[in-house]
Amino acid sequence: MRQWCEDILENLHLNHDELRETNNSVTLDELKEKFIQFQEELSGEDPIEINEIYEQANELYLQLEDHFERNDYNISDKTDRIQNQADHVVPIGGHILPPLPYRYDALQPYIDKEIMRIHHDKHHKSYVEGLNKAEKEMEKARSSNNFDLIKHWEREAAFNGAGHYLHTIFWTIMSPSGGGQPSGMLLQQINQSFGSFEKFKKHFTEAANNVEGGGWAILVWSPRSRRLEILQAEKHQNLSQWDVVPILVLDVWEHAYYLQYKNERKKYIDNWWKIVNWKEAERRYNEAQKLKWQPL
Ligand SMILES: [Fe+2]
Repeated sequence: MRQWCEDILENLHLNHDELRETNNSVTLDELKEKFIQFQEELSGEDPIEINEIYEQANELYLQLEDHFERNDYNISDKTDRIQNQADHVVPIGGHILPPLPYRYDALQPYIDKEIMRIHHDKHHKSYVEGLNKAEKEMEKARSSNNFDLIKHWEREAAFNGAGHYLHTIFWTIMSPSGGGQPSGMLLQQINQSFGSFEKFKKHFTEAANNVEGGGWAILVWSPRSRRLEILQAEKHQNLSQWDVVPILVLDVWEHAYYLQYKNERKKYIDNWWKIVNWKEAERRYNEAQKLKWQPL
């Protein structure tokens, strides 16, 4: 989390002049101050409760987002640019749990606050930790030249890595103001690939409902076939296809719905459509279009 604060402060610093032109600099400085304070609290002697840490991180993230929105700042373009400029590489074993892009209760009544809290703070966090551990262990194996446990750590890296990346997408492709249908190029492509939005929705719902055990339904773009496809993943990584780009992902592990829906997975899926953030799915689809591979 300290690294997360560090990255945000570094990006604000790197783009200081540009941000000042379009933003209210007083508020921007206040926000920077809050991030620094939070960082100090994290490093302080009194340990903060884990719930409290994520509560505060989410609050800061939302304030930053709200600030940019109020100042008519095109967040997605600028964020992309900021990320490119920082040219950030995740160090080995240095993955972090991203804060939710909304409050824990933002998706109610469709997904309870309690589910979101456990799902994000406990389950997603454990995937991040598992991935970091696997990467570190494999680094050790390389330096000691002892690969006796390589099969185990490769499996751990695949399971936890897929879990971390899928959850990171999952939080962003839901929104309290979501639901309805996509528009633009993504809608056109859905019509082309599946016949109609209704056919796509039925196919995706059935794929999600029929995942055996914990897993996912995933809408992917295939730069090779140049079509959208619907895949299932058992656990996080099994049954997935390489060489494709996930656009929309639906978590159907019991931890995603059981507290609220018990064994009624279908009811959870039907309600989930009401919070799909199609704007983010469209952004992911448009970005994926930049990848052009030889059709084979
Ligand atoms: Fe999950």
